[in-house]
Amino acid sequence: MKIIRGKSEMRAWSLERRCAGDSIGFVPTMGALHEGHASLMRASAKENRVTVASIFVNPTQFAPHEDFNAYPRTFEDDCRIAEDMGVTAIYAPEKVSLYPDGYATYVNVEGLSEGLCGRSRPIFFRGVATVVTKLFNTVLPDRAYFGMKDAQQCAVIRRMTRDLDFGIEIIELPTVREPDGLAMSSRNRYLTPEERAQALAISRGLFKAESQMKAGERSAESILKTVRDEMAGLNIDYIELVDADTIQPLERVEGRALLAAAAWVGKARLIDNIQYEVPTS
Ligand code: PAJ
Repeated sequence: MKIIRGKSEMRAWSLERRCAGDSIGFVPTMGALHEGHASLMRASAKENRVTVASIFVNPTQFAPHEDFNAYPRTFEDDCRIAEDMGVTAIYAPEKVSLYPDGYATYVNVEGLSEGLCGRSRPIFFRGVATVVTKLFNTVLPDRAYFGMKDAQQCAVIRRMTRDLDFGIEIIELPTVREPDGLAMSSRNRYLTPEERAQALAISRGLFKAESQMKAGERSAESILKTVRDEMAGLNIDYIELVDADTIQPLERVEGRALLAAAAWVGKARLIDNIQYEVPTS
């Protein structure tokens, strides 16, 4: 597995692969890899001739009070996992190379970036859309892989890719969970054993609500109450039912609905969601 640090080296490598007719799969990450990331890499390695995974803790998606400095950095372990998953090259650029002095250009996906996580993290999706654009322009992938764990991020990337004519296929894969239901996250490392047990209320609430929807419940109010009751002991950021593409609130479950929740547990801000598509009869 190759480790590439330089922007121009990355681009040259990708151009060479494309000229040779190889399809390039791409998995952007911030490192601290776990089975969630690994599932994306495995899928990409299966569906493409070569796979690039990026490891870059992106400063523009963190607010000054957030955990940019504390974010876990485990580069050596990450490389081992990526190699085991069949990744061909790691792209790990330096911060100054992506954001040199005088950096001034941002990608803003309007409408989708303001609700849910955008409310407590107003610059987050601008940072994500900007860095993913920059990574796309360097890695030049045919397909890019994202996890549904970050459903709003998926909606933003899907829309940006369409609106800016990137011509990249966006592939979204299901959330990988611990055996007890907790969605895997790099930030789970911040949890003490007690906090980890408390955090289970998030997935428990979402699963209960999912059963309700499967049984025919369509009222957002009743579904949200189920999750709220289950998460009552946590410091809730939001619990919302929205359309999975527009991120606009739904009063009733319809089309492809996204039930999403976020809460602070100890030092960690955790998010999770389930998606439910109303069967068409
Ligand atoms: P990061 O949190 O490292 O996640 C990288 C990718 O792994 C994202 O697509 C995310 O949705 C996916 N992922 C994380 N946990 C997962 C889980 N439990 N199951 C399945 N997939 C999971 O998301 C980011 O980094 C950044 O915002 C990034 C897109 C790299 C831009 O900086």
